[in-house]
Amino acid sequence: MQQIETIDAERIPQHVAIIMDGNGRWAKERGHERSYGHQAGVETVHIVAEEAARMGVKYLTLYTFSTENWNRPADEVAALMSLLFDNLEEEVFMKNDIRFRTIGDTTRLPQAVQDRIEQCRQHTAANHGMTLVLALSYSAHDELTRAIRKLVAEGVAADDISPQAIAARLDTAFMPDPDLLIRTGGELRLSNFLLWQSAYTELYFSPTYWPDFRADALRQAIQQYATRERRFGLTGEQVKPHTQTIS
Ligand code: IPE
Ligand code: IPE
Ligand code: MG
Repeated sequence: MQQIETIDAERIPQHVAIIMDGNGRWAKERGHERSYGHQAGVETVHIVAEEAARMGVKYLTLYTFSTENWNRPADEVAALMSLLFDNLEEEVFMKNDIRFRTIGDTTRLPQAVQDRIEQCRQHTAANHGMTLVLALSYSAHDELTRAIRKLVAEGVAADDISPQAIAARLDTAFMPDPDLLIRTGGELRLSNFLLWQSAYTELYFSPTYWPDFRADALRQAIQQYATRERRFGLTGEQVKPHTQTIS
């Protein structure tokens, strides 16, 4: 805790994205159903979001439910949807001055969840603290496919299709690309998360299951990030004078 206070403000990642993995294994190891792990993971969301905001992170994107996760057993999907509904608490966002957003194809979610998302988004839009983004029914392939459909529907000419034109039609158009991407739970893969946006993102993999990933684990990840040199394709000499200002 003391060490982290020494990180220069400009070395705190503006946008942290997290693949919250390991809930099922955490529960199984304790002799419980997988859903018990998802419930335990909610507590971690609160702790990590609060710590990220305290440290000065501006955007926190949490991979909460992937398009592929729809193929899990129906009872697990139902348990996840009901957890989601119960924990989209506008009061908690307001209390912490958090702006709430989502990415992903939320039209696939139960109507009650969609309504609550919309309500939280609208009512927190004028908050000034951290923006908390939940990736719900999200996959990078689906997001890119929808972006390309938008380009076609708008009649954008082939010559006008640029990286900027694509990025502007992604679900993430309202925020900068992630500076740091954390995956908990020990797997070393991205599982269809923010593939376009993570082109130059720093990656951090933790063996800790999500329910056990607490404030100190987040601080450790950010502390490690702060020691890295981002080069964006340039030489080390080119970036040294202004390592963190190129983005
Ligand atoms: C991540 O934990 C949460 C979701 C994908 C919804 P998992 O449920 O994938 O947990 P493991 O990876 O099976 O342990
Ligand atoms: C990624 O975890 C999705 C979320 C954390 C929401 P998964 O558990 O679904 O990923 P795989 O199947 O291990 O790649
Ligand atoms: Mg998993």
